[in-house]
Amino acid sequence: MGLTNYWNEQHQKYEKTNWITKPSLFIQSVFSYFPPSACVLELAAGQGADTKFMIKNGCNVVAVDISQYALDIAKSRIGEQNIHKVEFIALDIAEKLPFEDEKFDVVYSHLGLHYFSDKKTIEILKEIKRVLKVQGSLIMLVNTNQDIELGKMKMKKIEDNYYETETGLKKKYFSTDEIKILVEPFFEVVLLDNQGETYKDRAVGNANLIRLIGRKK
Ligand SMILES: C[S@@+](CC[C@H](N)C(=O)[O-])C[C@H]1O[C@@H](n2cnc3c(N)ncnc32)[C@H](O)[C@@H]1O
Repeated sequence: MGLTNYWNEQHQKYEKTNWITKPSLFIQSVFSYFPPSACVLELAAGQGADTKFMIKNGCNVVAVDISQYALDIAKSRIGEQNIHKVEFIALDIAEKLPFEDEKFDVVYSHLGLHYFSDKKTIEILKEIKRVLKVQGSLIMLVNTNQDIELGKMKMKKIEDNYYETETGLKKKYFSTDEIKILVEPFFEVVLLDNQGETYKDRAVGNANLIRLIGRKK
């Protein structure tokens, strides 16, 4: 199954969950780092819970995802009143981003930047830097190598902390040290820890996702 079909199917499952419409714990914990009325590029926006939160709080957002299915749901949840503050674009973030240099104040991603090899992650980080304004910020939450699924799931190792699951999905599990090495050539680290959590994590008392805020160098 291709990547787009995989994610379209995942989104049909997510649609039925009770967390999918709630703004993430992460966006709520980092929104104070956004400048007022920020122009935001959201990578892997999914069904748009955080898109909606950012718009409601004064941002203009370009929300991208590989799944048009997810973006259609996101669009339907925004509401007529705010629809002019958001643009939805279906694209693969592994490709060059179709935006001019220095367009955005913030590039934001909630669980969308841990699907790539280190080489590809570096290319994506370079692209993110290119589309950010001077002093712009990258704000992201990604998988951690402390993840409990790492020990439990059958996965094929591709490179350090990068695996292919039985469904064919490739996933990276970062350590804070690894993220620092990848990000530091492009961004000055403002916040980096492994205390991020989703609603599912909070329900079981887990808080070990990697939170990163970097300012463009
Ligand atoms: C774990 S979900 C997170 C979605 C959303 N940010 C949220 O937190 O609800 C990962 C998202 O990444 C998207 N995605 C995966 N690979 C992608 C790629 N190469 N380009 C663009 N989007 C991708 C999926 O469609 C999915 O919406």
